[in-house]
Amino acid sequence: MTEFQKKPTSAEGYRPVGAAEISDHDGSSLTLRDGSGPGQTTVEIAVLAPDLFRVGMFPSGRPVRYSSEAVAKEDWPEVEVSIVDSNSDASGSAGSADSVTLATDSASATVSLSPLRIGFADGEGWEFAADTEGPGGGMGTVPRPGAGPGGDPVGEPVRLHKKRRPGERYFGCGERTGGLEKTGTTLTFWNADPPEGHTASYDNLYASVPFVLTLDEETGTAWGMLLDSTHRTHVDLAHETDKEASFQAEGGDLVYYVFCGPTPKDVLRRYTELTGRTPMPPLWALGNQQSRWGYEGAAEVEEVARGYRERDLPCDVMYFDIDYMDGFRVFTWGPESFPEPKETVSRLADEGFRVVTIIDPGVKVDEGYRVYEEGRDRGFFCLTAGGEELHNAVWPGVCAFPDFTSPEVREWWGENHRALTDVGVDGVWCDMNEPSFFIPEQSTMPEDAVHPGGSTGERRYHAEVHNAYGSLMARATREGLLELRPERRPFVITRSAFAGVQRHAMQWTGDNSSWWEHLYMTMPQLMNMGLSGVSWAGMDIGGFFDDTSGELLARWYEMGIFQPFCRNHSAKGTRHQEPWLFGERYEASIRKMLKLRQRLIPYLYTLFEECHRTGAPILRPLLYEYPADGVARTADDEFLFGPAMLVAPVTRPGEANEYRHVYLPEGTWFHYWTGERHDGPDHVLAHAPLGEPPIYVKANTAVPLWPEMNHVEEKPADPLTLLVYPAEGAESGETTLYEDAGDGFGYERGEYARRTVSCEASENKIRVRVSEREGSFDPERRAILFELHCVHAPESVQVNGGEADFAYDEEARRLTVTLQEAPGESTVEMLLQDNVDT
Ligand code: GLC
Repeated sequence: MTEFQKKPTSAEGYRPVGAAEISDHDGSSLTLRDGSGPGQTTVEIAVLAPDLFRVGMFPSGRPVRYSSEAVAKEDWPEVEVSIVDSNSDASGSAGSADSVTLATDSASATVSLSPLRIGFADGEGWEFAADTEGPGGGMGTVPRPGAGPGGDPVGEPVRLHKKRRPGERYFGCGERTGGLEKTGTTLTFWNADPPEGHTASYDNLYASVPFVLTLDEETGTAWGMLLDSTHRTHVDLAHETDKEASFQAEGGDLVYYVFCGPTPKDVLRRYTELTGRTPMPPLWALGNQQSRWGYEGAAEVEEVARGYRERDLPCDVMYFDIDYMDGFRVFTWGPESFPEPKETVSRLADEGFRVVTIIDPGVKVDEGYRVYEEGRDRGFFCLTAGGEELHNAVWPGVCAFPDFTSPEVREWWGENHRALTDVGVDGVWCDMNEPSFFIPEQSTMPEDAVHPGGSTGERRYHAEVHNAYGSLMARATREGLLELRPERRPFVITRSAFAGVQRHAMQWTGDNSSWWEHLYMTMPQLMNMGLSGVSWAGMDIGGFFDDTSGELLARWYEMGIFQPFCRNHSAKGTRHQEPWLFGERYEASIRKMLKLRQRLIPYLYTLFEECHRTGAPILRPLLYEYPADGVARTADDEFLFGPAMLVAPVTRPGEANEYRHVYLPEGTWFHYWTGERHDGPDHVLAHAPLGEPPIYVKANTAVPLWPEMNHVEEKPADPLTLLVYPAEGAESGETTLYEDAGDGFGYERGEYARRTVSCEASENKIRVRVSEREGSFDPERRAILFELHCVHAPESVQVNGGEADFAYDEEARRLTVTLQEAPGESTVEMLLQDNVDT
């Protein structure tokens, strides 16, 4: 069995916390103790927000501590909590009670004391996340020889058992293989560089987000739980028995957070408040991106970039994979492959391309190499159990590995990025940061390796921090870029990650394969990442390993343009997969998709801002918007792109698969290519020839679009189109349009423009209203074009109460009206000769 498939320590001998005594309490938390002396266990239950509880169990005399790489917010405003024990109604006299309840106005936690069991309920008394009963229930520890008081600091495995309510269904859990729903599965959280060909034979990949989003199948009520441990963790979601979910971390403390919902939106909002939100991206990062491991030098990268421009294929970013370095030494440039990096980057910039370079954590052990010598002399690398500098092989040969748990090391690492920013590099791609070791192949740092922690950090074993290593590298990178270029929004990609990574970097899903199966897997994987706070994410379009085909690549783009991160990337030695290499038919189809991506950028940017502000996923599963819809909940091969668009990509080859089933949830939907109207909920058979993936736009819900452009900075983006499919009989709709400078931090000082666009359609009138601009940003454009589809010819059109010119295309049943860009509210009204077409 390989390292990353290791099974949990057997639960045999499990010792739950026994009778607990209240040792302390304040207005919003309780402290309990079981036992005394060095073997004593402390348990705390705290209310952090009306719908957020934290539970901590610190066994074997371990100190109470919550600081964690997952958590961004530690200071919570005071919450009104009533603490009532089973013997009295008043707070404060909890001495001899059987149980104590901590209640807010929307949820409660009830703590039974003997034995200790904790459960939760919403404001209506609907119970969830209750500890199981009996000798094998609740929370406690599993004995491990050598661990325990005075033993190894990693501690004993800690376990938690929660009852599963009938009908509870599980989702989230970050990046994994397998389908959308995780009910009935076991999950390992241990960051690994898995073998080629991610399949269901193993479920953990490069990242660990031990966060479960739970839905009640009857009502759609949602709640969530984060097990905040960076140790190896195993979770059983109703696999062993359908009556229970259990959690085990192989050491440390047991700290978990319960998010009471009641909707997926509420859970995600609170979860991302705790763990941090996705920062605003630089606008260019939303554009199309091209990469390949194997572009041998500057000339080849520039030639590929030219290929995009010559063929009228939109592209914003070029990547430099490891070959740009001097012998794979990080923070250097290869004298032969990239002899004049500054000139190369600047020529690419002149053509409208941004540049992103890869950085691995392994620093080549090499006398005379500044980065290594500095790291060694300052004691910045991880150590072996015996106290030597820990070495293993990665691309450059023998390497040492920075201890990113140390704040000084992170600062030093960040400063090193000057070698890239001085040349004009725009973004940084953190790779191999599980960390991945070549000896033995695709292994990782030994669990007994030591992170010295630096002068302000703490000395810890690798086993304690393993799952955070990648996130900490990403954090060092983001903080470094912010230091070096405070006026620019950092663009950082990471492969390895832990809960909360979204505040440091976007995550791409590593080395997938050019398989149809992986095109399908992109959907459940990205949807679950979105449900785990990691919304800014994407898979390698076309597949990394193996040879792609024209059909697979073209179909992959039909899905890939809706990923928050849209990048074609492939491995050295595989067939090249730039969009123009498979003949005109596929190239034309990819061009059409890339142009659509580029046109959708104002909509996508608005979704990013919503994600940044509220934690709402960008690419979201249907269950996020329709949690009570049982069919929507299981839809794992289609997704919502924001609230206004539903996409159901084709993920199988051949003519037979030009038709596919699509489920449309409640509401009215229009087929993007034909304008056909569907009233959901409905199952439809969509015809999806190449270049026409099934895309549906929600009625009365405006989608902002740019004119066609080849890259994001090709100005002016004028006019802005508001695409609307009005539908009489459908709910009126509302969307937001958010704009700002596209980089920098002016938006934090109010330099943004936010407007709502609402649309209602009645029998003889359609009214679209654009609200007054909120914020001080002026988009500097002349016009907004209203494009109303699937409507009959209007009798008249009024803009802000006055008659207006309009164009009507009979055949396309499309009405266009132009409006001057202005900060005030504008209303466009169409009086129709006839009903809006149904
Ligand atoms: C890893 C990365 C891959 C990259 C390669 C070479 O396999 O996941 O994207 O191209 O290393 O750097």
